[in-house]
Amino acid sequence: MELVVKYPVYDLDNQLLVREGTELTSDFMDDFCREKRRKHPFARLFEYGDVQKDLLNEFLIPPYDVIFSREETRTRVLGLLADVALPMPVFRMMDYFRNNDFHTYRHMLIISALTTLILDDLAPRKGNSAKECTHFGPLHDLGKYTVPLPILMKETPLTAREQDRLKHHAVAGYVLVSHYLGDHGGLSSLIALDHHERRNGTGYSRGIELLNLVVEVTTVCDIYDALVARRPYRPVSFDNRTALEELTSMARRGEIGWAPVRALVAYNRKKKTSVEEVAVSLERRGSPPRQNVYGMLSEEE
Ligand SMILES: [Fe+2]
Ligand SMILES: [Fe+2]
Repeated sequence: MELVVKYPVYDLDNQLLVREGTELTSDFMDDFCREKRRKHPFARLFEYGDVQKDLLNEFLIPPYDVIFSREETRTRVLGLLADVALPMPVFRMMDYFRNNDFHTYRHMLIISALTTLILDDLAPRKGNSAKECTHFGPLHDLGKYTVPLPILMKETPLTAREQDRLKHHAVAGYVLVSHYLGDHGGLSSLIALDHHERRNGTGYSRGIELLNLVVEVTTVCDIYDALVARRPYRPVSFDNRTALEELTSMARRGEIGWAPVRALVAYNRKKKTSVEEVAVSLERRGSPPRQNVYGMLSEEE
């Protein structure tokens, strides 16, 4: 399927990277990465600013206080994340979010921790080690840097046009991550592009069938955090049980895989069950919040 840039993508210094209407063929991306490749210095995630402190704060907020309640879990995840190093422009973008859209910033951090935890449990059996996957969290939503703040911060449901602009963060993220890493074929770029795809092809941007476990783990964590965390437009979030039931329903519909859902259910048990042994109830007992606007659009144009 052709992948077209609908809105121009600029870098941190306001240089145009890709103009609107450009088709991102693999030849184009090869040239783009070759041409734009510049060596950026790298820094370690936990040595930058307040990143580590900010992540530890997120571990105190429900439902993450339960998921990360054991010291062994925190030590394991923090140990893996301690090795993450990213190009400096990524940190400048994280600073931008920390100052302007704190939710996106904290989302990047908690997704880093949650994907690392799940992949450490699942990936060794499937080929990828969690160590190789720890840096995807901060990168997956980098494209939101290109979405106007009034849209990211809007307190009422988005219009169809605004939602289109927001959804474009996946394609824009693919461009930005490829640009800053100088590579468009790696998992980092793929996660930026495909983390809103679904197993049955009903997602975006490409509408492909999501089959890569690492991307899928990011996708499932992303949906989970979108449901349980507060957003400017959604002051009332899903309670944890309803969020897990929502993920279970999505797995039943074939939109996402069972393995990451099962892992999230296991981590949420007070009496910790292993990811292999956990049974997922198919019964729905919770209900979405009364002012639920998750996934809803405004009628206005
Ligand atoms: Fe996203
Ligand atoms: Fe996300």
